[in-house]
Amino acid sequence: MNEVRAIVAMSKGAAVTIETILVPDPGPGEALVQVQACGVCHTDLHYREGGINDEFPFLLGHEAAGIVEKVGAGVTSVAPGDFVVLNWRAVCGECRSCRRGKPWLCFSTFNATQKMTLRDGTVLSAALGIGAFAEKTLVAAGQCTKVDSSVPAATAGLLGCGVMAGIGAAVNTGNVGRGDSVAVFGCGGVGDAAIAGSLLAGATTIIAVDIDDRKLETAKTFGATHTVNSKNVDAVEAIKAATGGNGADVCIEAIGLPQTYRQAFEARDLAGTVVLVGVPRPDMEVTLPFIEMFGRGGSLKSSWYGDCLPSRDFPMLIDLHLQGRLPLDKFVSETIKLEDVEEAFHKMERGEVLRSVVVF
Ligand SMILES: NC(=O)c1ccc[n+]([C@@H]2O[C@H](COP(=O)([O-])OP(=O)(O)OC[C@H]3O[C@@H](n4cnc5c(N)ncnc54)[C@H](O)[C@@H]3O)[C@@H](O)[C@H]2O)c1
Ligand SMILES: [Zn+2]
Ligand SMILES: [Zn+2]
Repeated sequence: MNEVRAIVAMSKGAAVTIETILVPDPGPGEALVQVQACGVCHTDLHYREGGINDEFPFLLGHEAAGIVEKVGAGVTSVAPGDFVVLNWRAVCGECRSCRRGKPWLCFSTFNATQKMTLRDGTVLSAALGIGAFAEKTLVAAGQCTKVDSSVPAATAGLLGCGVMAGIGAAVNTGNVGRGDSVAVFGCGGVGDAAIAGSLLAGATTIIAVDIDDRKLETAKTFGATHTVNSKNVDAVEAIKAATGGNGADVCIEAIGLPQTYRQAFEARDLAGTVVLVGVPRPDMEVTLPFIEMFGRGGSLKSSWYGDCLPSRDFPMLIDLHLQGRLPLDKFVSETIKLEDVEEAFHKMERGEVLRSVVVF
């Protein structure tokens, strides 16, 4: 058993606190990871606001990289000393989706079997089955993806969630290709990654939409060719104006709001694709004109984790970064200490950062 410091959301809406937690040694199929860096993602804030589920207390943090410290019986994919990025969809290889050759949609992903707890034995719900705002965390071995260790942990760890989700929303789910036009709604870490992914895939028109001019300026540095502040102008009209009156081939919603989903739906060209990567709250509903769903054709898709396959995509994206073709380091706005996570949530709400990253 390991005693470590960690960030816990004890109850709905309350500020997060530092707690001492107990992390079991790895059992069969598990790995104990010494966390080196973990980014603050909007999904952590969704958890602490009760927007994901009510299984408090939550051990937050899920965008992380670190060193494998110990592995349990039967683990052969990683070994102590390996530098890994943690992923929250360790595919099973056996469910109906894996068997049909679509492991990125796996319906039965793995997490650690043993639970991490508070000192009094209260079981913690680890955010996305990871819980990496902790000096050490326990995961399923399949949640550890080995990557080139020459990349700083603060940079590499971001692939573990938001950056992968955004790049994958464009490249995998949206299938953005050469010459496409793309509109991205919400230019936080996820939206900017969708912009970077669209650039990588060869899109020629990339329209960034946000309500914060600072975010739009940053979006340009990731590859946005046009910016739209939807507080001041009609986003749908502006996107049509930038695409010859037609709308974008791929519209990516990276906020999780009904109104911006509707904008994405309306700003799409005929036979285009809408990708929802933002996470809605459980009480939200959208209303869409049914005839337009038919008449516009194309597809409305959701993107879980950018439809990524960590073993395929993490090492490949790290290689592209090392070759200077993907500026992963630019997503790191600041590095912070564990005790600064609550303040980092406020900075995120105020739009001051793309990613604050806890470095241990
Ligand atoms: N699908 C997945 O697998 C996955 C993975 C990671 C994160 N997410 C989700 O993606 C979303 C974005 O995450 P993030 O970390 O980038 O968040 P963030 O808070 O950093 O970014 C959100 C951006 O949206 C902008 N915004 C807010 N309201 C807006 C509006 N009405 N119109 C236009 N822009 C608006 C904000 O100014 C901000 O720039 C969250 O919902 C998060 O939970 C999904
Ligand atoms: Zn599966
Ligand atoms: Zn996340």
